[in-house]
Amino acid sequence: MGANIPNNDYDYLFKVVMSGDFGVGKSNILSRITRNEFDVESKSTIGVEFTTRTYHIDNKIIKAQIWDTAGSQEKYAFARLYYREAKGVLLVYDITNHSTFENVELWLKKIRESTDANNVVIMLVGNKSDLEDSRQVSIEEGKSFAEREQLLFIETSALDATNIEQGFTNFLNHIYNNVTSP
Ligand code: GTP
Ligand code: MG
Repeated sequence: MGANIPNNDYDYLFKVVMSGDFGVGKSNILSRITRNEFDVESKSTIGVEFTTRTYHIDNKIIKAQIWDTAGSQEKYAFARLYYREAKGVLLVYDITNHSTFENVELWLKKIRESTDANNVVIMLVGNKSDLEDSRQVSIEEGKSFAEREQLLFIETSALDATNIEQGFTNFLNHIYNNVTSP
């Protein structure tokens, strides 16, 4: 699988990787992006899966190939393979679970060890924003971490779809700019 090999279907292929602790909502963000679906009883992801969706940016056809695995499995040895040739990473935490935010630092370390900083766009995603009453991570906390680490930042809800479409489109635009004018 080579990235950015032109063929008849698309002008650019962007591999994007879902990252972050188990249970933060990676698979539901993905199903919201690709099928506009949410699953209340979703099971933990087994193995590695990817799904694609086609976008149009700047009159170009962009194929986003989004990789997903379980937060628990990601911690193991195949991380390097998993992140290989990724053009973007969605680093997700759960705003109702502070420890998933604390672990973002570890994820970031792993991502940076496995990717080339100049060629990858990382977006920090605080998910489950619909659960305002159970919030343990403030927007400011998320935002200032992202600023310090030079990450894009957004809060989303896969459940009610808040910021999913806009957030992902913005993320892809950053990747496109990064790839076309590095
Ligand atoms: P692993 O595959 O185990 O790493 O988990 P994951 O990060 O893929 O999480 P998953 O998408 O399976 O979601 C875990 C649980 O959180 C499920 O019960 C979802 O229904 C729930 N969930 C996911 N996103 C949201 C959200 O935005 N709001 C709310 N309220 N619940 C969510
Ligand atoms: Mg999953």
